[in-house]
Amino acid sequence: MKIFLDTANVSELREGVAMGLVDGCTTNPSLIAKEKRPFRPLVEEICSIVSGDVSLEVVATDVEGMVKEGKELAQVAPNVVVKCPLTRDGLKAVRRLSGEGIRVNQTLCFSASQALLSAKAGATYISPFLGRLDDISAVGMDVIRDICQIYRTYGFTTQVLAASIRNPLHVVDAAKAGAHVATLPFGVLEMLIKHPLTDIGLKKFLDDWAKSGAQL
Ligand code: G3P
Repeated sequence: MKIFLDTANVSELREGVAMGLVDGCTTNPSLIAKEKRPFRPLVEEICSIVSGDVSLEVVATDVEGMVKEGKELAQVAPNVVVKCPLTRDGLKAVRRLSGEGIRVNQTLCFSASQALLSAKAGATYISPFLGRLDDISAVGMDVIRDICQIYRTYGFTTQVLAASIRNPLHVVDAAKAGAHVATLPFGVLEMLIKHPLTDIGLKKFLDDWAKSGAQL
């Protein structure tokens, strides 16, 4: 399973890339707004830091606007994937953009039925939002499992990108379900690394070593 960082923060991206753990990046208008930087230089920098796919989202809501913005965003760098919302116009935009060879990540997906349509429209990635489903007492992971099963059954090439991930269990369960990608906030990447028994074990090894007086 690939790991993407769900951030527009260049420091987080540089650190993730230095760790050798970042296969791509997803952004959205909220994440971009948080950075308080002009859009174009920010996304150009992101695309130069990350060698894998970088999702940049349209803000138009009509098909013509989404197609126009999508074409502009695709010019930013060769690793850009255009993000379009899963609406009626968004599905039309996916069909149009993918028909012109522009890869699309269809976002704001909350059901397997939406994901089926998105695959048929030609999306490169589908982004089901796990955490936001859990927030309303629906089981986000069930949606991921259903989408993976449907895509496998019919041989769709659309990749399942588990989004709105809040904790390490989401990551493990998405991997078990067969999601192709999990996009994580930087904090969740850090949580994946940490285990208290690792820290306790390391401390004991080093204490025992120091007491022994041995040298490497
Ligand atoms: O980038 C889309 C998604 O991952 C957003 O997550 O935490 O705002 O629900 P969140």
